[in-house]
Amino acid sequence: MMAKEFNRMLVTAALPYANGPLHIGHLAGCYLPADIYVRYQRAKGRDIRFVCGSDEHGVPITIRAMKEGATPQAVVDKYHRTLQDSFAGMDISFDIYSRTSNAVHHETAAGIFKRIHELGLFEEKETEQYFDEKAGVFLADRYITGTCPVCSKPGAYGDQCEKCGSSLSPDQLLEPRSTLSDAVPVKRTTKHWYFPLQDYEPWLKQWILEEHKEWKNNVFGQCKSWLDNGLQSRAMTRDSQWGVAVPLPDTEGKVLYVWFDAPIGYISATKELTPNWTDYWCQEDTKLVHFIGKDNIVFHCIIFPAMLKAHGGFVLPDNVPANEFLNIEGEKVSTSRNWAVWVHEYLADFPGGQDMLRYVLCANAPETKDNDFTWKDFQERINSELVAILGNFVNRSFVLMHKLCGGKVPRLHEGCVDEADTLMLNAFRLTAEKVSDAIEHYRFREALFEVIDLARQGNRYLQEKEPWIVARNLAEKPSEQEHIDNCLHVCLQLCANLAILANPFLPHTARQMLHMMKVVERMLDWENAGKTKLLVPGYTLREPQLLFRKIEDSEIETQIRKLRAGSLRQPPPPTPDKSPAPMDSPIPEQAPKPTIPFEDFAKIDLRVGTIRQAEKLPKADKLLRLEVDLGTEVRTILSGIAQHFTPEDIVGRQVVVVANLAPRKMRGVDSHGMILMAEDTSGQLRFVSPDQAVPPGSAVS
Ligand code: MF3
Ligand code: ZN
Repeated sequence: MMAKEFNRMLVTAALPYANGPLHIGHLAGCYLPADIYVRYQRAKGRDIRFVCGSDEHGVPITIRAMKEGATPQAVVDKYHRTLQDSFAGMDISFDIYSRTSNAVHHETAAGIFKRIHELGLFEEKETEQYFDEKAGVFLADRYITGTCPVCSKPGAYGDQCEKCGSSLSPDQLLEPRSTLSDAVPVKRTTKHWYFPLQDYEPWLKQWILEEHKEWKNNVFGQCKSWLDNGLQSRAMTRDSQWGVAVPLPDTEGKVLYVWFDAPIGYISATKELTPNWTDYWCQEDTKLVHFIGKDNIVFHCIIFPAMLKAHGGFVLPDNVPANEFLNIEGEKVSTSRNWAVWVHEYLADFPGGQDMLRYVLCANAPETKDNDFTWKDFQERINSELVAILGNFVNRSFVLMHKLCGGKVPRLHEGCVDEADTLMLNAFRLTAEKVSDAIEHYRFREALFEVIDLARQGNRYLQEKEPWIVARNLAEKPSEQEHIDNCLHVCLQLCANLAILANPFLPHTARQMLHMMKVVERMLDWENAGKTKLLVPGYTLREPQLLFRKIEDSEIETQIRKLRAGSLRQPPPPTPDKSPAPMDSPIPEQAPKPTIPFEDFAKIDLRVGTIRQAEKLPKADKLLRLEVDLGTEVRTILSGIAQHFTPEDIVGRQVVVVANLAPRKMRGVDSHGMILMAEDTSGQLRFVSPDQAVPPGSAVS
């Protein structure tokens, strides 16, 4: 099929839920690749708009509001601001960052719903759903808890059991309870509007499976499996007080399903951005690209396009380049366990460090599979790539130019251009083409690798030419200055190219380089990429500034400690995985112990305690002396965790204590009990704690 001709572009990045701050998994999943793509297209001079905003409706936000004892609006106001600040701090260059609680959005979403309704395309159905009579509301899946029918453990939710990972429907829960009031919910009939996705199946199959075979494998594969399994009607309304009101008579207490309204947020944001919004949404020659994380694929590839198709008159995405997930230090990100690297905290700890993080997240982006972020890798990539290759090359070029060429761009003496010079100059164009091609095809890691590789070639070239050695013999052979000039001329033109090529990835660095070269922003236009005469000979350049700094061991140790100390509880059991564990899977070895009768287990008095005080025990490098509140008494317990936690980290934390263990004297102090700990694959100890605070002294059984 012929590639389509596009005259303008609209790029969207998934609207993050305004129920928590931004973590680096979000950045790696969609905001950073989207920003790189957009910055590159802008440099190409394309007519492009980049829209995003906060997704402010949905159940998680109402739950968050309940937990914080605030209104949903107060919650979204707070997180909308945090999100916006984090994006700004990371130089994510949205043309607009809007929000779905604003009026434009409510009107737009309601309008689209109304039209689909008027076309007679919704099915109206009455069904029975759980209702909490105490709280007076229908209960969304997450509001219902009960015993899991699969693993028989209490505390499963209406959509999922987090203990065994089974996905559930509310009807399957045994002994259901409302999480709002603890009432036993009753069934009530309620009416909702369903969108018959199955009617769009033939069209979707043609559009995706035939016409978009170029979509990334992970995206195409997920779409294919949804389509192969058959689509079903989906309710597009919910019983709730928070959201876009259903724009039909007698629908008090009903709102649009969050996944109906949120993607329409892209349209509302564009409306807010420009009066010409229809150019971007309704003209066939617009290239629409949705950047998302993999958990959003079905909504952006199937449900939203089907909605737009039903409505008519809107462009459909040309591509939906979804990334997989970024894990942290070998474990899945979990916001409820606080296992995450928060962007606002990163920016506070590494002021001005946005490009370092952008670099690492792009170099290691989960483009084709889940990937792992580790602080060690962060340090290594910055020190051995950003500092040692890119920063080093630029710095050496500038220092040598100031030393050997009088602080000016030397001219190129055509007469003594040699093969190495020519090869180096040709590499500019070759790299620019590779970077373009990779970005156009959403392969950002590869593109970034090519940029760094060009700097690597620059270092090699400089090392071969050794202008500082040549300079030693200038007294005898003054004509050698021409070789020095040529070498630094090439190096400086390469610096200019590196600024252009790095700009989409490292915009702050690119601007610092412009400043050093005393050139204007226009130089970063992509049409200059590959050119070899960007800096004019004779032009004075500034003294170099260091572009990047080394990351010290102590800095990443602090980060690792912070991550582990902030982590709230044990990781949940791994979700059952059909593939067999690989041979080298790093599961800690522990020989099983012989079976004991229940009576033996019952002898152990396990209690939840709260650590009130902690201090290092003098002359014992492993032991902390803890004062643990068990409700009726405060016990002194010695625990061998001093190498894993600092006393400040753990005061206030709840732990599980073996309360009836015979006292033991260690280092002259009596220890009255033991704290339960687990060890992870890296040997780090983890507390075993209740997943929510309970009164000290509560029995564990
Ligand atoms: N808020 C959703 C999430 O974080 C994403 C919404 S994307 C949109 O998973 F298309 F609906 F806007
Ligand atoms: Zn279960």
